[in-house]
Amino acid sequence: MEVHDKASRGFIDGSAYDKGRPSYTEEAAEYIANLLKKTPDKEEVKYDVLELGAGTGKFTQMFINKLDKLVVAAQCFHWFANETSLKEIQRVLIPGGVFAMVWNHKDSRIPWVKQLQDIVLSYYTEDIPRALDYKWKPVIENFSGFASGENLFLSGIHLKGSKDFIVEHHCTISVMSSLVPEQKTVAAKKLRNVLDSDEATKNSNEIILPFVTEIYHCVKK
Ligand SMILES: C[S@@+](CC[C@H](N)C(=O)[O-])C[C@H]1O[C@@H](n2cnc3c(N)ncnc32)[C@H](O)[C@@H]1O
Repeated sequence: MEVHDKASRGFIDGSAYDKGRPSYTEEAAEYIANLLKKTPDKEEVKYDVLELGAGTGKFTQMFINKLDKLVVAAQCFHWFANETSLKEIQRVLIPGGVFAMVWNHKDSRIPWVKQLQDIVLSYYTEDIPRALDYKWKPVIENFSGFASGENLFLSGIHLKGSKDFIVEHHCTISVMSSLVPEQKTVAAKKLRNVLDSDEATKNSNEIILPFVTEIYHCVKK
């Protein structure tokens, strides 16, 4: 399957990604783990879980020794939201098996968070998939192999750190990390300017960046 250029170049620096991105809460992991309990037992099942787009294993760590009969895609399904992927996911799941997707979204109801998001958004072109454009959703809903999905929003893990850290976090987003160094410097300055000028952050040594975790799951028919 083709990997989008921004994805193949944007996630090269695993250590920056691992440092700069939030993990997932026990609550989110437990919710997904419990979905598995609803799936039927089948003798022919060799492996119970298949994780897609595992990256540095942030989400995987939550699940070691916990799960089976599930395909999970953390922070990545939007990159391969197409019928070919869904056919393959459906193929490997047992009937009644669950395909679960999870995303951490920054809480852009907060004005300075929204301003930072808008800067990141300005680097996107129409062809670059984003979780928050929700183009992935009709792809699943129009796919006949899964029963209709369910959405759940939970409070996520809140990142805490200096202004530099908040800028670095934004620079782990693939559209940002795949910029050439000069462009990245300009982008980082724009982000820093927001943090240096917004009333809520300008005098703060430790900034809290809140996340909301979205879980969407569907069941193989
Ligand atoms: C934002 S990272 C998420 C990593 C990890 N799941 C986590 O929660 O931190 C997105 C991942 O999707 C993977 N990815 C992007 N496009 C893909 C594709 N077409 N097929 C498989 N993986 C893909 C990237 O390589 C990267 O590891």
